[in-house]
Amino acid sequence: MKVSVIGTGYVGLVTGACLADMGNEVMCLDVDEAKIRSLERGIIPIHEPGLDEIVKRNVEAGRLVFTLDAKKAAEFGEVQMIAVGTPPDEDGSADLQYVLAAARNIGRHMPDYRVIVDKSTVPVGTGDRVEAAVREELAKRGADIDFAVVSNPEFLKEGAAVDDCMKPDRIVLGLSDARAEAIMRELYQPFQRNHERTLVMSRRAAELTKYAANAMLATRISFMNDLSRLAEVVGVDIEDVRRGIGSDPRIGYSFLYAGTGYGGSCFPKDVQALMRTADEHGAPLRLLAAVEAVNDDQKTTLVRKAVKRFGALQGRRFAIWGLAFKPNTDDMREAPARSVIEALWAEGASVCAYDPIAADECRRIYGERADLTLAASPLEAVRGADALMIVTEWKEFRSPPFDEIRARLKHPVILDGRNLYEPEAVRRHGLEYHSVGRPAALVEG
Ligand code: UDX
Repeated sequence: MKVSVIGTGYVGLVTGACLADMGNEVMCLDVDEAKIRSLERGIIPIHEPGLDEIVKRNVEAGRLVFTLDAKKAAEFGEVQMIAVGTPPDEDGSADLQYVLAAARNIGRHMPDYRVIVDKSTVPVGTGDRVEAAVREELAKRGADIDFAVVSNPEFLKEGAAVDDCMKPDRIVLGLSDARAEAIMRELYQPFQRNHERTLVMSRRAAELTKYAANAMLATRISFMNDLSRLAEVVGVDIEDVRRGIGSDPRIGYSFLYAGTGYGGSCFPKDVQALMRTADEHGAPLRLLAAVEAVNDDQKTTLVRKAVKRFGALQGRRFAIWGLAFKPNTDDMREAPARSVIEALWAEGASVCAYDPIAADECRRIYGERADLTLAASPLEAVRGADALMIVTEWKEFRSPPFDEIRARLKHPVILDGRNLYEPEAVRRHGLEYHSVGRPAALVEG
C-alpha cells in the first residue's frame, strides 16, 4: 500500500518506518529542510532504540522516501497520516494549527479518494474540523472527490516506540466509513500477530480514548505519589504496598511506581489538554486537577528532602544522576530533573549532573552556566558534592559502587527519587539513604 506521513517527528517517523518495514511504500513529508536532508542520508534526529536501523534499511530498499513537497505527498499515498505536533496553547489546550494546515494541504492537492488519518493526539471533535478543512479546500478548486477522516491514535512509549509500533496492544480506529475501514484493516493486518487487535469505534470515542489512556496512567502514578507521603509518615514501605495491590489482577502492577513525578511530551500535556476540553464542554474532570497538582509537587520532593536534611542549601553542590524524563531517551521535555535543578538553583545551590545520553540536550536547554556542570561519568558527578540525587532510573545506576560514592561525597547521603536500592543495603555501605515513600535509612554516628 502507498502511505504518506505528514510530520517526521517522533510519531510520524516511527510509524512511517514501521509501515515501510512491513513492505508498504511510504513517503514522509516535513517542512524542515535540514531534517529531511539528513533523514535521506539515514541520520535520525531523535534517540530511539532500533529506529536508525529500520530507517536505513527501508531507505536503501527504496520503500521509505522523504520530501518537502506537500503536493507530492498528497498525491502519493491513498492513506494520508497526519502526525504533526499539537503543542500546548497558553491555556494548556492543544494547538491545532499544524494539524489543520496539513489537512488543507491534502484537500488542495489530493487527486482522488484518500483516507486521512489523525495520528496526532487531538481533542475530541478535531476529526470533524479536519473533515471541514479538507471539504473547504476541495470546494475552492471545485473538486468532487470522496474521502474519509479516521482517528487512529498511537500509544508509543519513548524508548520502546519501534516495538510498540510493531507489536501494538490494540489498534484503535475511529471511523464510520466502510471503505476506509477496509483500507485501514488491510494496512494493519501484518501487525496483528496472533489475534485481532483492532477496535473500531466512533471517531470521537477514538479521540477521547487516547487522552483517557494517558490520563488514567498519570492518575495511577499521582495516586501512588500521594500515598507515598502518607507511607513515609506512618513508617510504611510504599514498595510493599505497590506489590500488595499490584497482585490484584483488577489493579495490576504497571504504572504504580512512586517517584519524582511523571514528565515527558505526553502525560503533562495530555492531562492539561483533556482538562481544557472538559472545561470547555462544561463537564470538568475534577480528579485530573488533583493528579496534576500532586505531580507538580512531586517533581521537587527530593529538594524538599534535601532542605529537611541540610537546612539552607545556599552554596551547596548536588550531584544529579539522570536528566532525561525516563531511561533510554535523551528527551528532557517536562523532565522532573529540570524541576529539581531549577529548584536547587532557586535555593542557591549548584549542580553537577550525569546522564548517559541527555547531557547535550541539557546543555542546549540551559547553556553554559557556572552553577551547572555536566560530568562524563556517574562517579565524576559525585566528586565533592554534598549529596547525590537520583532522578532517572537508568540501568547503569542499579548496582553502583557504593563505597566509591561514599568516598567522593562530602556527606554520605543519597536522595533517590526512583527507589532503586534496598535501604538496608545502602546503609550497610555507610550511606544515609532517603527514597520516596519509604522510611529513611540513617547511619549511626
Ligand atoms: C506515554 C504513554 O505510556 C504512551 O502510551 C503514550 O503514547 C505517550 O505517553 P511516554 O511519555 O513515552 O509514554 O513515557 P512512559 O513510559 O509512559 O512514562 C511517562 C512518565 O511517567 C515518565 O516520566 C516516567 O518516569 C513516569 N512513571 C511511569 C512513573 O513515575 N511511575 C510509573 O509507575 C510509570
